[in-house]
Amino acid sequence: MGELRTIKLTINGVTREGRAEPRKLLVDFIREDLGLTGTHVGCEHGICGACTVLLNGEAARSCLMLAVQAHGAEILTVEGLATNGKLHPLQEAFWEHHGLQCGFCTPGMLLAAYDLLRVNPSPTEPEIRAGLSAVLCRCTGYQGIVRAVQAAAKRLRAAG
Ligand code: FES
Ligand code: FES
Repeated sequence: MGELRTIKLTINGVTREGRAEPRKLLVDFIREDLGLTGTHVGCEHGICGACTVLLNGEAARSCLMLAVQAHGAEILTVEGLATNGKLHPLQEAFWEHHGLQCGFCTPGMLLAAYDLLRVNPSPTEPEIRAGLSAVLCRCTGYQGIVRAVQAAAKRLRAAG
């Protein structure tokens, strides 16, 4: 094993620390060292988007970064979306509108949708499709996902 580096970051509002080799990917650090396995790893090549997290407030592929590069960063993963045991409106909408089948892409879809609604609270359908285009789903045909994002956007706007 190579030299280990200390990595300290804030993830889902909690400060965490771990030690990892400089070559370790951020997604592997999140899953293996921090035990947050909600972030999925599919292609490890930046293609599928399953590993999407919010890094310092913006969507990022955690398979295209080294864990050491995230030292000092603030990260949001799918585990951080629900608050006090209540699902985030996006999670509720995915459930209600059949936005998932196998669920493998879902963590990435939710974080990509979260990022989209952060910058555009009233997206049109083409804007939703463009906003989610960086995450690939093998199951759903995207209809349910798009409906879910539309419903969540409406709910979030109503909540102010
Ligand atoms: S695992 Fe990161 S884009 Fe596929
Ligand atoms: S729900 Fe299976 S890959 Fe999207």
